[in-house]
Amino acid sequence: MYDLILRGARFEDAVADVAVAGGRIERISPRIQEGGGREIDAGGRLLSPPFIESHVHLDTTLTAGDPRWNESGTLFEGIQIWSERKRSVTREDVISRATELLRWQAAQGVLHVRTHVDVTDPDLTGLKAMLEIREKVRGWTDVQIVAFPQEGILSYPRGTELMEEALRLGADVVGGIPHYEHTREMGAESVRESFRLAEKHDKPIDIHCDETDDPESRFLEVMAAEAIRTGMGQRVTASHTTAFGSYDNAYAFKLMGFLTKAVINFVANPLINITLQGRYDSYPKRRGITRVKELWQNGLNVSLGYDDIMDPWYPLGTGGMLQPAHMAVHACHMTSREEVTACFDMVTENAARTLGLEGYGIAEGGPASFVLVDAPDKWDALRRLATTTLVVRDGEVIAEARPAEHRLMGETVTFQRGTEGLGDFVGQGSGSGERTERG
Ligand code: FE2
Repeated sequence: MYDLILRGARFEDAVADVAVAGGRIERISPRIQEGGGREIDAGGRLLSPPFIESHVHLDTTLTAGDPRWNESGTLFEGIQIWSERKRSVTREDVISRATELLRWQAAQGVLHVRTHVDVTDPDLTGLKAMLEIREKVRGWTDVQIVAFPQEGILSYPRGTELMEEALRLGADVVGGIPHYEHTREMGAESVRESFRLAEKHDKPIDIHCDETDDPESRFLEVMAAEAIRTGMGQRVTASHTTAFGSYDNAYAFKLMGFLTKAVINFVANPLINITLQGRYDSYPKRRGITRVKELWQNGLNVSLGYDDIMDPWYPLGTGGMLQPAHMAVHACHMTSREEVTACFDMVTENAARTLGLEGYGIAEGGPASFVLVDAPDKWDALRRLATTTLVVRDGEVIAEARPAEHRLMGETVTFQRGTEGLGDFVGQGSGSGERTERG
């Protein structure tokens, strides 16, 4: 007798039952005869490992409009507003907002979150609160904390010491923001400082790098050079790199060759990049997003993050990871069948590589952590921004949802055209959430 059996879940190319016991996947088979303590009819829905948020700011989330709205919509006004808001940040304030957002994300199947936390604060209030949250939520979501120097490592008073202190207190990852340092020399030196800290404390690196339209912002090459020099490659992540979208092709070509040797990870944040960048352009306006498609075509690991959810930089959002993936499809011209599917992987498998997760995926003997998405495949999940109907963490059902049912003149509208390729998928409005309880 298993603890849980999922009946008729859709894998890449097959429909199968999944049996769970003791928090692990015991068996995956076209038909499991034995029963389970609980049985859930997956109805042919897509089974996926959990979604992963590889770049968000949980210390700033859910503050949009407080103390004021970002009227210019620029990154720099956002930083100014946050500088004002953070004077009133308290431990309780951060815990309340960040926990709420993690609940929104877990409810949608996001069970691993890498959050940057501003450490340019002499009291490190946000960081200390986030360390508490990381422990408090450990039973249902995994949080990685990046020590993020929002106002610079070298440009902010005692910036390096605050980074050191954050790492000593328990931050998981070393951050950076070279394009915000006062001069380009200080920017390059701050990248080297991040690597020094990472080597000293044996931590991975995730730097906000070249988050600007300025084609002269070239700190990515410094990161790549340091990654090669230190041999830290896969433990290094360059977030944003939006200036890469503005480099001329001659430099971009040289850089791409260099990057394939450095083998670092990239995180793009399509919702925020296309919103914050291009603000100083008239027309034509740049998309302000890194070369996601070309990085992916060159075999580099790219994942996608939200970045901001209802804060001074971005007023919208729910935390569901299909939204940034959906924006990537558009903003990065990734509309072929294969490219759309790749964008789904950028908020699952690729993000697991960025975060350095071990044991991620769906396999017999592996952890029983997975989600059901109300779609027959990854492509359709993105087309319809499908609902995550079931979230299982270490064998426990922690979230369930029913997809919206649309009825037109008494008939259900499923937003599915024909049934080709859909197999057993039942679509919206039938079979959703149906299950039998046994034992
Ligand atoms: Fe960010």
